[in-house]
Amino acid sequence: MKNCFYVTTPIYYVNDIPHIGHAYTTIAADTMARYKRMAGFDTFFLTGTDEHGQKIERAAKSQNIEPLELADNVVLRFKNLWKKLDITNDDFIRTTEPRHLKFVQILFNKLYEQGDIYLGNYEGWYCTPCESFFTETEASEKLCPQCGRSLERLQEESYFFKLSKYQDRLLEFYEANPDFVIPNTRFNEVKSFVKGGLNDLSVSRTSFSWGIPVPFNDKHVIYVWFDALINYISAINYGCQNSETSKYWPATHIVGKDIIQFHAVYWPAMLMAAGIEPPRQVVAHGWWTSEGKKMSKSLGNVVDPNDMIDRFGRDQFRYFLLREVPFGQDGDFSIKSIKGRINNDLANDLGNLFNRVATLIKKNCSGIIPDTSGEPEVKINFEKMRESVDASMIKFDFLNALKAIWSYIRWVNKFITDNAPWALTDKTKIDNVLASAAYALHAIAFQLAPFMPDTAKAIKERLSDDAEFNWGNFRWDIRGNKVTKGAILFRRYELEEKSEKKNKEQKKESYISIDDVMKLKLKTAEIVSAKRVEKSEKLIKLELKLKDERRTIVAGIGKSYSPEELIGKHIVIVSNLMPRKLFGIESNGMLLAASSGDKLSLLTVDKVIESGSSIH
Ligand code: ME8
Ligand code: MG
Repeated sequence: MKNCFYVTTPIYYVNDIPHIGHAYTTIAADTMARYKRMAGFDTFFLTGTDEHGQKIERAAKSQNIEPLELADNVVLRFKNLWKKLDITNDDFIRTTEPRHLKFVQILFNKLYEQGDIYLGNYEGWYCTPCESFFTETEASEKLCPQCGRSLERLQEESYFFKLSKYQDRLLEFYEANPDFVIPNTRFNEVKSFVKGGLNDLSVSRTSFSWGIPVPFNDKHVIYVWFDALINYISAINYGCQNSETSKYWPATHIVGKDIIQFHAVYWPAMLMAAGIEPPRQVVAHGWWTSEGKKMSKSLGNVVDPNDMIDRFGRDQFRYFLLREVPFGQDGDFSIKSIKGRINNDLANDLGNLFNRVATLIKKNCSGIIPDTSGEPEVKINFEKMRESVDASMIKFDFLNALKAIWSYIRWVNKFITDNAPWALTDKTKIDNVLASAAYALHAIAFQLAPFMPDTAKAIKERLSDDAEFNWGNFRWDIRGNKVTKGAILFRRYELEEKSEKKNKEQKKESYISIDDVMKLKLKTAEIVSAKRVEKSEKLIKLELKLKDERRTIVAGIGKSYSPEELIGKHIVIVSNLMPRKLFGIESNGMLLAASSGDKLSLLTVDKVIESGSSIH
């Protein structure tokens, strides 16, 4: 029997349209699913939507539509995005589907009958957006400790799940499964939360109606989290006769750090109560901000994955998300950093390697991979890289897996440069280098396939390998295959937008430095005589006194001033202007005047000061 691997994403709420946070989790799960399939695992990959609860009911009301209509619209957006990203989920579950509803009711009933669910009274501080009650200590400010919004005091009759009963069993389970939650820091938080004592969990509501009815009391609907978590087993028809997918359980849940407690505490306890094995693993990733800020509708900085895919390509987007930050840690999305990654890692390293190999094989070997086994070290280094990728992927460490692939890509580039086949004359040696590089590129395509499926496929096909991406199909030596160069794999991006750049340049142009100012030698001068220049309407020849110096300036002020009124004025001139001739008269400097339309007004000094004084 083949090994099974079952991977899930959270089922996303339908009151919000998909953004990069959702895309991130789903891309990570897709990458892992592809990776496991290639390694021969019988893989099942589930995603879906969480469609019940007060939050959805309110969102629908505000749009004047039925909750299911709202859900139908948003579900389409999620499905379209997953198609656009070539997400390979095997199923998509909606919590409004009958197959799910039935399952939730059966489980609720079972737990009620065995006494793990009981009717009680709940009073507490409730946050509607988060669908969570908080204790007095948590709600001391009457603000939600998760989202900061104000809490409502709610009291209602409620069914409770006996979570407290499972505290010890949970702790034993954690003890026996040291990798149950990764990263480990998150696991420690989970453990200390459970050690701190568990209260029973309120699992029904009477204050609204958009939910799955409690099967034996239709005043109540089932709490949205109790409903939602069950999707992971309802989708595979767990425990049902003739179910072909039941075998996939237990699952690996990939989630954001915001919902670890639900997956690592409540969910395993629910399963224990139901007599079902807890999940295999809960993998929690960090939080994305956008251009340094928390993404929010009000800030208008929510990144639409559709835009990013249109702009940069889906492989580029996938690569960026998985390469930019360690899985588990928070990260910041910015246009500049995605462009940087594309330029450096994709265009320069990988794109360049492909180009070189294709060009050299075309030139030296008529486009056919030479008939030789190549240099052993190229294969040895590939095998080391593959081991290192596997070691990282066990830990969901996508970043280090990609780093290992890229250090091999760089090494192969260097191998080509060091061997400089363009400078070799020995044909055997040339063939050896180029065949090795082509084998490496082909292997890189296999290794890269889970992360960047389109690019990997393009490279593999240009090396004339039509086999599916599966390690079972992999052959290192593909001698004799034809190599097609094709269009460039990755275009480069200007790090700054053109308009941004232009703006900056214009700004630069419109400013001068202090050095520029200091170049101007401005001085006061007294006009001692003034005469119109013959044959010119505008020009007046001025004789100026600057201390002991005399100089002549020809100025175009004849329409605004008569020569007579100029005499005796103390004006301002640029004293170091290169002399030039006007109407045969040498002019030594330029006077300053303000102009508005036809009018001119000379700059004069406010108080009489010695002529020839410098102006600072
Ligand atoms: O919580 N950065 O649904 P949800 C990274 N329906 N990941 C992010 C993110 C961000 N800024 N924003 C969202 C729910 N995510 C429940 C789940 S499961 C039984 C029920 C991702 O629509 C991340 O995976 O609020 C997070 O856990 C999830 O979306 C929350 O999606
Ligand atoms: Mg949320």
